Amino acid sequence: MAGPKYSATCSAPVNIAVIKYWGKRDTKLILPTNDSLSVTLDQDHLRSVTTASADESYGGKDRLWLNGVEEEIAEQGRLRTCIDEMRKMRSDKEAGDDKLPKLSSWPLHICSENNFPTAAGLASSASGFAALIYTLATLFGLLPAVDNSQLSRIARQGSGSACRSLFGGFVAWQGGEKADGSDSLAVQVASREHWPDLHALICVVSDAKKGTPSTAGMQRTVATSPLLQHRIKDVVPARMKSISDAIQRRDFDSFAAITMADSNNFHATCLDTTPPIFYMNDVSRAIVQLVEELNRASEEAGKGKVAAYTYDAGPNAVLYAPKENVQLVLQLVRHYFPNADFDDTFNLLGAGSGASHRGQQ
Ligand code: DP6
Repeated sequence: MAGPKYSATCSAPVNIAVIKYWGKRDTKLILPTNDSLSVTLDQDHLRSVTTASADESYGGKDRLWLNGVEEEIAEQGRLRTCIDEMRKMRSDKEAGDDKLPKLSSWPLHICSENNFPTAAGLASSASGFAALIYTLATLFGLLPAVDNSQLSRIARQGSGSACRSLFGGFVAWQGGEKADGSDSLAVQVASREHWPDLHALICVVSDAKKGTPSTAGMQRTVATSPLLQHRIKDVVPARMKSISDAIQRRDFDSFAAITMADSNNFHATCLDTTPPIFYMNDVSRAIVQLVEELNRASEEAGKGKVAAYTYDAGPNAVLYAPKENVQLVLQLVRHYFPNADFDDTFNLLGAGSGASHRGQQ
């Protein structure tokens, strides 16, 4: 049997924030309480691959399969919003050209796969929604007239951090000020090629599903944490500027200091939440101590920092290091944390490109 006439397959990588997004000022449009900045990781290691097809013969409704299992597309849900927004862009295009097939009125079948554990604090929703939006943009023939920043506004409504996965390299999510969210989008601060020497190591401390999902956790922090208000007003604006400058200068010492300080400030706001939220565990904290100790010894010997740690909404560490330090960091982490529940998947990553096209019929 012939396959669907119109289909596209695209992928998008995971991104790891160095200035964290934590808190929404609008939960429906997903508008953040502060700007954030991330590094996009290498697609070979952590990515979502999505295939979408549109066909008149599909009958009634859109369908979605996530890692091979069909999931419901909830009527008021984020996925529905994203699909509707993309359809609207397609139908605007069709309105301007009556020769175009009416893909906007046909049902969609969408299959998405991650090559890493879902919801273990490894940002699966970020790569998942970025891949979905990019795939629909490709299927609907919207590229390149619609650029990645425009697409990021829609990906943001799937999952805030997803807007940053449309781009490779170093990416800022400008939170924006407008109530309609039109200025809340991602921009590339620097390409991967700008700083090829910077590497990332993912230390999977646990691939179990996390306790408090970020969506619920961050709004609990917004509602209860006085420390978050200080973070939003005073801490993040200064750090966004200084880390962007550090990236431009390829200044690892400054980049590392800001990255670690922001991870700690973010987890402090989680602890300042009522009831408190704990994402890091004993192994996570021991890795912090190891990196701090390594950096102290190196700086005492008149050299720069060796590595930087950062933690998202889970216990897994992401370590950034200049290439020359990667083997040392790997050896030490393996030496001190050889036990079984410390998963042996240390991936050496180079940050790569953003969402990209894999094929279309
Ligand atoms: C700790 O983007 O998963 O990883 O917008 O509710 O889907 P929603 O939240 P999500 O939150 C990510 C939080 C974080 C920090 C970050 O990636 O900036």
